Amino acid sequence: MKTIQIGLLGLGTVGSGVLQMIQENQAKVAKVTGCELKVKRVLVRHPENYQAVADQVALTSDVDELLNDDDLQIIVELMGGIHPAQEYIEAALKQHKNVVTANKDLIAVAGPQLSQLAQANHCDLMYEASVAGGIPILRTIANSFAADEITAVKGIVNGTTNYILTQMTQQHWSYAQALSKAQELGFAESDPTNDVTGKDAAYKMVILSQFAFGTDVQTSDFKVTGIDQLQAFDVAKAQDFGYVIKLIGLAQVANGGVFVEVAPVLVAQSHPLAAVQNENNAVMVTGKAVGDTLFYGPGAGGLPTANSVLSDITTVTKNLVLQTNGNQFNNYHQHYVPAAPTD
Ligand code: HSE
Repeated sequence: MKTIQIGLLGLGTVGSGVLQMIQENQAKVAKVTGCELKVKRVLVRHPENYQAVADQVALTSDVDELLNDDDLQIIVELMGGIHPAQEYIEAALKQHKNVVTANKDLIAVAGPQLSQLAQANHCDLMYEASVAGGIPILRTIANSFAADEITAVKGIVNGTTNYILTQMTQQHWSYAQALSKAQELGFAESDPTNDVTGKDAAYKMVILSQFAFGTDVQTSDFKVTGIDQLQAFDVAKAQDFGYVIKLIGLAQVANGGVFVEVAPVLVAQSHPLAAVQNENNAVMVTGKAVGDTLFYGPGAGGLPTANSVLSDITTVTKNLVLQTNGNQFNNYHQHYVPAAPTD
């Protein structure tokens, strides 16, 4: 059986989940792809801190050692942040290595350019895990809404803030206590500023807007309000009036363009989004033909996010098999490239 060798950049919560899933689900992956997956090299800042996996993978702090390994056909970037992740991904694509990433910051800022670079080098660039953790929302929009006209995408796309708001509402925890627990559980970014200020949700709305509408909107183009100014008093008052506060991302067709915003919103307790608790996310996609559809699942956390990463890795693996068999390559990843900007 053919072995597809993988290089992993980063071994935090999601990276560890990816390693675990590949080890535990080898038989299923082989059935689906006809290949075995092997993580050969892992980039970490301090290899001496990861001795528990040193017998399974080659740990290195030298990115060139990893990127110059000709055996590696897929690079999985799970470091987060824009730099140096962008430079590493560009270098990998230029060496004709396929890339899978969960990096919403980078994809929101440079996704279309990186997709073009991938196409120019006949590679896949996939990033299902960059939006809504374990919910397969990008695939769904790209494939299942291929012929429908989407009029709105809205919902809860940040797990950390939803966890904080849930604990403040139900357990009457303070904001600081709930944030600290979200960090401990591995939902928050290493610096949670982007979570609580709404920036993380804004990055995800940029990517959702690219997929749903083909718009090249940037976070600076729309209003972003987080939950960092909310008080326990606000949460309690909302409850008194029959509402819960949720951090909602909205992108909808309006006045011939697309209106995008991220803000804390009063949601009626009877609304389906009010029932989305803890780190879960939910994305409502409205199509002209299909009407309202709702996609729900864990929006953060190691294994749920790793599952989305694995869905991309298996797709890339299937494409590699098709290529080996002499099939045209660019049919298989085009569906995943955001549509060209409309204005
Ligand atoms: N910090 C992010 C969140 C992780 O809480 O949603 C998943 O993107």
